[in-house]
Amino acid sequence: MDVDEAIHKRFSCRSYRSEPVPDELVRKVLEAGRLAPSACNKQPWRFAVVTDHESRRRIVEECFLPGIRMEWALAAPVHIVLGMAKSIVTHMAAPAVSGVDYPWVDLGIAGEHMVLQATELGLGTCWIGWIKPRVVRTVVDWPGGVKPVALITLGYPADEEGREKRQSKRKPLSDITKWV
Ligand SMILES: Cc1cc2nc3c(=O)[nH]c(=O)nc-3n(C[C@H](O)[C@H](O)[C@H](O)COP(=O)(O)O)c2cc1C
Repeated sequence: MDVDEAIHKRFSCRSYRSEPVPDELVRKVLEAGRLAPSACNKQPWRFAVVTDHESRRRIVEECFLPGIRMEWALAAPVHIVLGMAKSIVTHMAAPAVSGVDYPWVDLGIAGEHMVLQATELGLGTCWIGWIKPRVVRTVVDWPGGVKPVALITLGYPADEEGREKRQSKRKPLSDITKWV
């Protein structure tokens, strides 16, 4: 699968088979995140791989904010938590000059690298940002300097049809692009 196909096949997978994901594939996904570019090459991301049922249950029951039903996430055999390690250069010095919070950009790039790699491996993923970061931190036992930002669920999609068709619409390019 080339990048173009992975971009077009990726969708937010909210239904998973119970089949575990081999560690070797999880490592490939993590490696794709590790190789992402980042401002000043600070690599602010940290990854926690959560596979045991009790920890995933705690994530689903204790770490999600109210308002969106996300019980489906428990069926995903792997939860990858994306965390942000703080650095004075990218969190304070650079944003004070440019007004841009680079580590957030970096985390998004690393996460989507992982998502596209997972797609190529035939795995389904879904970003989950509707979380309670402090509670997630206790589940994955990260120190205070690492802020959980989002999760990515990972597993074999239960709904084969979903793999073929994107369910959410996109704005047309003309609405979001200006050629200067
Ligand atoms: C940063 C981020 C946070 C998201 N948080 C959630 C979430 O908490 N729960 C959820 O079900 N989907 C979440 N999504 C998935 C989006 O709803 C989804 O990407 C969007 O509706 C487009 O659908 P598609 O991914 O199938 O193309 C999130 C996506 C991103 C990029």
